[in-house]
Amino acid sequence: MKLIVTGGAGFIGSAFVRMLVSTGRHRVVNLDKLTYAGNLDNLEPIAGNPNYRFVRGDIVDAELINTLIEDESPDAIIHFAAESHVDRSILSPAASFETNLRGTFTLLEAVRNRKVPRYVHVSTDEVYGSLEEPFEADESYPLKPSSPYSASKAGSDLLALSYFTTFKSPVLVTRASNNYGPYQFPEKLIPLMISNALEDKNLPIYGDGMQVRDWLYVDDHCRAILAVLEKGRVGEVYNVGGSRSLPNREVVQMILKATGKPASLMTTVTDRPGHDRRYALTSEKLEKETGWSAQVPFEEGLQSTVDWYRRNRDWVARVKSGEYQDFYKLNYTR
Ligand code: NAD
Ligand code: TYD
Repeated sequence: MKLIVTGGAGFIGSAFVRMLVSTGRHRVVNLDKLTYAGNLDNLEPIAGNPNYRFVRGDIVDAELINTLIEDESPDAIIHFAAESHVDRSILSPAASFETNLRGTFTLLEAVRNRKVPRYVHVSTDEVYGSLEEPFEADESYPLKPSSPYSASKAGSDLLALSYFTTFKSPVLVTRASNNYGPYQFPEKLIPLMISNALEDKNLPIYGDGMQVRDWLYVDDHCRAILAVLEKGRVGEVYNVGGSRSLPNREVVQMILKATGKPASLMTTVTDRPGHDRRYALTSEKLEKETGWSAQVPFEEGLQSTVDWYRRNRDWVARVKSGEYQDFYKLNYTR
């Protein structure tokens, strides 16, 4: 299969590109703007592979997208590119609107006009908003996003589905829970806490730290996207969960244990505005229709993630320099 992947220099996109290119069954063209979150170091293991091409560009650039589709005649587009961080979307919502909504619209127009055979839209369980115990969202659960990030993702999901309903565009939507693993930018909970712990810095917990997230190892997510690409039904939404719900405080305690650092590093900081209390979803539909299931237990995935951050301190130092320091100051002195 020939694929165009957007956002393939980010955390999940790069894991997907590395996975597909290394199996040798796919040609992958990676279109990425290289924002603060995009990093070509993440693709170093496959950089010279003849089945891989990198194109630097913005998904809002319709001319570029159309030319790329004409040049490559892809069998599918897998759309990862996004402004993906809730806190940044609170500090500065415009980029979420521009990339997540306008960028998705640009891709959908190209899919429609150039008749791309398949389009997988990578979304998030955050579109369902905060759920009370014991509810779990299935794919028909109402959308109730809380942050500019999740609202822009919900809007782009609905736009993608409308292209199926209205134009019969071959759209599939995935909604995954919180991912973790190697190469994740240290602004999200797990890589931030691991990298801070390894540097003996404070671990900033928002509010009481009892917010619950469902944790999914990034390779399990990539396998789910591949399963949806190969076996999913167009016009359908597929939840992807890790089946491991934990309060943040417990995750941080496990990180302290895995890094051998003291509990005194944990610090309570001002809560995130509009902070969702609990995400929970079921992936039964994906499991039944494609045979996919999450393979990596949280303890195992967390340990190998900690080991990766330990071994890749240069990567961490590079991404934590420059702009990151300004973001960190701004976010944690809110
Ligand atoms: P990320 O922030 O690590 O990477 C995003 C990538 O998109 C970067 O390489 C960036 O350069 C690129 N990009 C941003 N704006 C662009 C634009 N306008 N044009 C082209 N490229 C652009 O994100 P991630 O964590 O890898 O998330 C990937 C996708 O998965 C997103 O759509 C996100 O909403 C979704 N998702 C993420 C999680 C998670 O836990 N991280 C969970 C569920 C779903
Ligand atoms: P995050 O990784 O930003 O993912 P999301 O908000 O998209 O679920 O955050 C995961 C949880 O961790 C969320 O409840 C917010 C919390 N959190 C902290 O307590 N401290 C932090 O420094 C960060 C980044 C997150």
